[in-house]
Amino acid sequence: MPKRSIPPQRGFFPQPVYLMGCFLENGKPNFTLVTWTTFCSAEPPMLMFTSGNARRKRTAMRILETGLFSANLVTTPMVEVADYCGNASGYKTDKCLDTGLSWSRGAVLDVPILDDSPWVFECSVTKTTDIGNGTVYFGEIRNILVDQRLTDSSYGKIDLLSVNPAIYSPTSYYSVGARIYTVGDSLKKYR
Ligand SMILES: Cc1cc2nc3c(=O)[nH]c(=O)nc-3n(C[C@H](O)[C@H](O)[C@H](O)COP(=O)(O)O)c2cc1C
Repeated sequence: MPKRSIPPQRGFFPQPVYLMGCFLENGKPNFTLVTWTTFCSAEPPMLMFTSGNARRKRTAMRILETGLFSANLVTTPMVEVADYCGNASGYKTDKCLDTGLSWSRGAVLDVPILDDSPWVFECSVTKTTDIGNGTVYFGEIRNILVDQRLTDSSYGKIDLLSVNPAIYSPTSYYSVGARIYTVGDSLKKYR
């Protein structure tokens, strides 16, 4: 496959879509859309996300203060509301009021949980690292709240298609397609 060089840029990556939630100083919840996120430790289970221009975002600033956040998986029916939470600032408006987002309290941590999200991580911040013009937040997963309709929530058994997560790639949201391959099957062919 012949290639050409293009300038370094954040460019193209398919990314998961999460709404990171926290309680503000006035006790109200605030959610922001984050796509720069992934797992970063299996033991203890941890995830990380990056806040670009961290100092200017309300959720990121508040998470620095409280050390707590929820990471709510966004599904395809949630995309429109999630997009609003990624384009409106919690400094200027009450996003939950604007959208009618329904939320509850975490089971283990003092974080807001989105009722429509089928998979929610309750996290406590263990560390932050400033990098480039952003800040990476490392969160220990202290609890996971899972939709009771998911019959098997164990590792590797989750039915991704029924969870129906949204995927982001600049500048659109997508749903997942068909399952294409099983991890490790290549060993049967090439080893
Ligand atoms: C598709 C999409 C992806 C985004 N991903 C991130 C991200 O990974 N990290 C981040 O800091 N902001 C991201 N944002 C921007 C924030 O969601 C946005 O700045 C938001 O308004 C911040 O809200 P807040 O001030 O209430 O925290 C994204 C926005 C969109 C629309």
